[in-house]
Amino acid sequence: MIKNICCIGAGYVGGPTMAVIALKNPNINVTVVDINKNRIDAWNSEDLSSLPIYEPGLDEVVAEARGRNLFFSTDVDKAITESEMIFISVNTPTKTYGKGKGMAADLKYIELCARQIAEIAKTDKIVVEKSTLPVRTSEALKSILDNTGNGVKFQILSNPEFLAEGTAISDLLSPDRVLIGGGTDEEGTNAVNALVSIYEAWVPSDKIITTNVWSSELSKLTANAFLAQRVSSINAMSELCEVTGADVNEVAKAIGMDSRIGSKFLKASVGFGGSCFQKDILNLVYIARSYGLNQVADYWEQVIIMNDYQKNRFAKKILTTLYNTVSGKKIAFLGWAFKKDTNDTRESAAIYVADALLDEQANIAVYDPKVVKEQMYNDLANLNTRKVEEIEAGISVFSEVYELCKDAHAIAILTEWDEFKEYDWKMIYENMKKPAFLFDGRNILNGENMENIGFVYNGIGISK
Ligand code: NAD
Ligand code: UGA
Repeated sequence: MIKNICCIGAGYVGGPTMAVIALKNPNINVTVVDINKNRIDAWNSEDLSSLPIYEPGLDEVVAEARGRNLFFSTDVDKAITESEMIFISVNTPTKTYGKGKGMAADLKYIELCARQIAEIAKTDKIVVEKSTLPVRTSEALKSILDNTGNGVKFQILSNPEFLAEGTAISDLLSPDRVLIGGGTDEEGTNAVNALVSIYEAWVPSDKIITTNVWSSELSKLTANAFLAQRVSSINAMSELCEVTGADVNEVAKAIGMDSRIGSKFLKASVGFGGSCFQKDILNLVYIARSYGLNQVADYWEQVIIMNDYQKNRFAKKILTTLYNTVSGKKIAFLGWAFKKDTNDTRESAAIYVADALLDEQANIAVYDPKVVKEQMYNDLANLNTRKVEEIEAGISVFSEVYELCKDAHAIAILTEWDEFKEYDWKMIYENMKKPAFLFDGRNILNGENMENIGFVYNGIGISK
């Protein structure tokens, strides 16, 4: 019976996942550790609105479990020592240097965790890969653990996470499935069963599937590739809709009613963002190429190429519609996060659209209900395309939408926050420069209503 769990990495996955495991297993102590002290302090903050991650429902789960059997700490060694099961949930970003730069997953944080576990562990441990990893990573983990450890035994499981940001808590509470990959010998089976029993505290047994480790690792990359491919596929059709008179919302509805296709994940947009789709597909492409599977690699790479094209196309549309110049014009951005209901901005389309419009000397004004100014400036600074002073001069951040849109030449909707639908659009229109252009990068507004107000409305995949 597992009594103590620790999770290395208190990020978007480690925090919510462990909070739910603790909530549903009150007899297991769950300690989430991180080297980032600010993050841990925020997780321990009295004020639940100061948690480091914004996720609907997360505050309630933390309120119930924290201090009871859920703990956040920077003492990684102590947590490793005390736990029988250790989840690794650290970041695995795209490499920015050396072999595989711009494509492969950077596994240095994973390796550091493995070396630390090996050094500290004085009793047998089950090590669970929660991070998304290239297929066959567990082989490298096992080699490090077995060769640098203190002679104790390690079992390695793969348990990829499928939660989506913005719906993390409901995804964790009622997952479509839980996937656990592990060894098939007696010790491997025992380890798998130990993890299964933790999930069985709330997940129906038929939704917990077990596979070999490689299938589990590869299923995670495959799931993200398929999901992203759907978005790129509908986005590819959106351009064809615009030139032919078709409406992408109608096309998505028509194809989505075919039960073989399904209706979810067919929303045309300014392009997908988030920390994982691009990173995981690049990683998949890299793995395929490294096995000499060039056609497989090219096939999946096209999903990224299409997404880059879609983000660019949106920026270009704004430029050409505004008479080929946005220099000195105020362009109001509604939203900066990569999707609604999260404060995460990693790879958000807004960053790339802003960068393209800054190239054209636009004055960009931004409002996002959950993203702070410093984050927006950092996101642009990380592109290394211009100096910080230029970013600060080109981007102004507002906390209120009516001021944001006052005297704007155009509004661009980058994130589908629900509150954007509720605004007094007539009032916004009246205070804008005319013609008042509206670029709905998420198709959340009713184009006809907007045109009746007076806007020149441009949706994605809707012909003009
Ligand atoms: P994150 O960047 O939010 O969190 C990772 C945390 O790990 C950071 O706080 C970092 O300080 C910490 N860390 C790194 N090295 C450490 C070490 N040696 N010791 C202690 N702490 C360390 O990342 P995330 O979004 O939570 O993603 C984590 C993994 O989960 C990635 O592999 C990602 O692909 C995968 N994933 C993410 C999501 C998502 O929605 N974000 C969903 C499913 C899977
Ligand atoms: C995605 C997957 O959905 C999760 O299953 C997975 O666990 C996670 O990646 C991960 O591995 O990190 P996430 O990136 O949080 O989750 O959010 P999604 O809802 O998948 O949205 C990703 C992007 O695609 C967003 O920018 C979203 O706006 C965009 N999108 C999504 C569309 O443009 N259209 C759609 O129909 C759906």
